[in-house]
Amino acid sequence: MHKLNKISKRFWNKQPCNINHSKKKFLSKEYFDEITKKRYFVESHIKKFADFKNCKNKNVLEIGFGIGTDAIQFLVNGANYNGVELSNKSFDITKKRIEIFNYSKKSILINDEAENLLKYFSAKDNFHLIYSFGVLHHSSSLSKCLNVIHKLMNKNTICKIMLYAKNSYKYFLMKENLIRYEAQKGVPVIDFYDHSDVKTIFKKFKIINIEQDFIFPYKIKPYKRNKYEKINHFKFMNKKIFRILSKNLGEHLLITLGK
Ligand SMILES: C[S@@+](CC[C@H](N)C(=O)[O-])C[C@H]1O[C@@H](n2cnc3c(N)ncnc32)[C@H](O)[C@@H]1O
Repeated sequence: MHKLNKISKRFWNKQPCNINHSKKKFLSKEYFDEITKKRYFVESHIKKFADFKNCKNKNVLEIGFGIGTDAIQFLVNGANYNGVELSNKSFDITKKRIEIFNYSKKSILINDEAENLLKYFSAKDNFHLIYSFGVLHHSSSLSKCLNVIHKLMNKNTICKIMLYAKNSYKYFLMKENLIRYEAQKGVPVIDFYDHSDVKTIFKKFKIINIEQDFIFPYKIKPYKRNKYEKINHFKFMNKKIFRILSKNLGEHLLITLGK
C-alpha cells in the first residue's frame, strides 16, 4: 500500500468519518438514525447530488463509504449496492449498520483501497452509478483512482464525485489560518480543486456537470451538541444571498461524469 494511503487508513481507523455525530448507544439503530438525520439536515445538497430516489434496481458502486450513511440511502431506495472502503474500522461499522437495517443480501462490501477495484469488478458489472463523496482527495493517487473508475464505466454509467473546492469560503479561511473545523482536525487531505482543474483531471471522461455547494454556517461548540446556532454573519444573512454564496463559494465541488 502507498505510504499516503497507510497514513490515511490510520487516520480514518482512529476516527471514522462522522462517528461522533450521535451520543446514542454506539452501533444501535437510534445511533445510526441520529447520524443520518444530522447529515442530511446539515448537508442537504447530498440528497440531490446522489439522487438516491432514482436508484431502484440500479447497480451502484460507492468508493470510500465511511460509516455507510449514503450506503443505507442507496439500499433503502432499492439499489444493488457495492462499496469499497480503505479503513477496516469504518468497514466494520458499515457492515454492522447494513446488518441492523437488514440489507446484507443487497450489498457487497470490500475492505480495500479504491486503487485495487479492478481486482473485484469490471465494466461487465454494468454499474449505473459510481459514486464517491469526499474521498478521492484523500487517496494516494487521484489519477490512478480515476483510471480505475474509467475502466469500470460503460456508456450507461454515470459517475458522481465530490472533491474539495479550491475556490471556496472554507479554503480562503484556511489560507488565512482562520479555519473552523466542524468535524475532525488533521484530516489527511491531499488537494483542493477548481473548475479548470476538473477539466484537466477528468479529460478522459465526458463532463456532464460541475457545481459547487455547502458553506457550513454553524457555531462549532453548539453544533457538537446537536444545536444549530448560526454564527453572526450567517445569522443575519438573507437566505437568497447565502444560496448564491454557496453556489459560488461552497466547499464541495460536485462533479457528474459520463464515458
Ligand atoms: C471524509 S470520509 C468520507 C466518507 C463518506 N463518503 C461520507 O461522505 O461520509 C473519507 C473516507 O474515504 C476513505 N478512503 C480514503 N482513501 C481511500 C481509498 N484510496 N480507497 C478507499 N477508501 C478511501 C477513508 O477511509 C474515509 O472513510
